[in-house]
Amino acid sequence: MTRAFPDTALAADIAAGLARVETLFESQLSSDFPAVNDLCRHVERYRGKMLRPTLVIVAGLAFTRDGEALRSEHDIIAATVEMIHMATLVHDDVLDEAEMRRRGETVNFLRGNETAVMLGDYLISNAFHLCSRAGDPALNLRLGEVTNTLCEGELVQLSRRHDMSLDENTYFEIVRRKTAVLVGASCELGTRLAGADASAVAAMRKFGENLGVAFQIQDDLLDLLGDEATVGKSIGRDLEKGKLTLPMILHVANTTGAERQAALRAIESKDGAALRRALERSGSIDAARAKAVEIVEDAKRGLPATRRAHSRELLLELADRVVARDS
Ligand code: FPP
Ligand code: MG
Repeated sequence: MTRAFPDTALAADIAAGLARVETLFESQLSSDFPAVNDLCRHVERYRGKMLRPTLVIVAGLAFTRDGEALRSEHDIIAATVEMIHMATLVHDDVLDEAEMRRRGETVNFLRGNETAVMLGDYLISNAFHLCSRAGDPALNLRLGEVTNTLCEGELVQLSRRHDMSLDENTYFEIVRRKTAVLVGASCELGTRLAGADASAVAAMRKFGENLGVAFQIQDDLLDLLGDEATVGKSIGRDLEKGKLTLPMILHVANTTGAERQAALRAIESKDGAALRRALERSGSIDAARAKAVEIVEDAKRGLPATRRAHSRELLLELADRVVARDS
């Protein structure tokens, strides 16, 4: 996510950090069994944007003092958050019965649900083993809390499938839990490990959480509107699995009569084309997009002063890219 950024010294620091993360990731997952290594190699190709480790590194660089380098704990936490993320994706693809991720086949599609569930378990277990290598129980506690929250978000989402009364507040609470808390913790821990004060750490967590919420709204819009070749993963899963997302919720809340009924019928019959027509006509897709942009603007306004200006500019740029992406 840093390719277009013009500051070459900062870009080199980030690239070096991400290379260390990759090395850690691979060494942590290396097993005596080739069958396990093959599966890990398969999920390693899911690492695309590397948003979460990038945020740990950039937040760390933003708050380290001049002349100071990132700590080895930054690398460990950056690799850990990515491994937690990978575990959740492998399990998520089982729940969503998705066949494609990052332009390749999902583990469940390729090897079945049993292998995918076990591989997700292997990844989450390794994530916490890796985190323990930092030797700071506070890091394990925080990421344990985050992973609990993430599972709660997913469980609440499951319990509200096919529920047409799902409201905006509950949608945002699900999204905050299932996606935003991990992005928030990436910013928070990168900042904390750089020795920043408590108010900067809290502000960075809020920045990351806002990015996470906007990221998930955009993800949901791509699931509804994108085409598989561009997005690179199975789409239409939300409708298929009865997950109401923001444009659907806004439409149901803000329309009446035939207009409202048309969308409800399309959701019930899983008719994606009819649903898109109804949501476009009512302006609900534009309204959901506007909400994501508003949240990004809120994130940018709340970004605290950093010790290094260039890293701050990059954080602002990363925030914009969350809603500008089409994959
Ligand atoms: C993406 O949703 C899913 C998440 C952000 C979280 C999924 C979490 C779990 C399944 C819990 C697993 C827990 C552990 C401990 C391994 P999405 O389906 O909207 O995104 P997608 O479009 O990328 O599939
Ligand atoms: Mg999914």
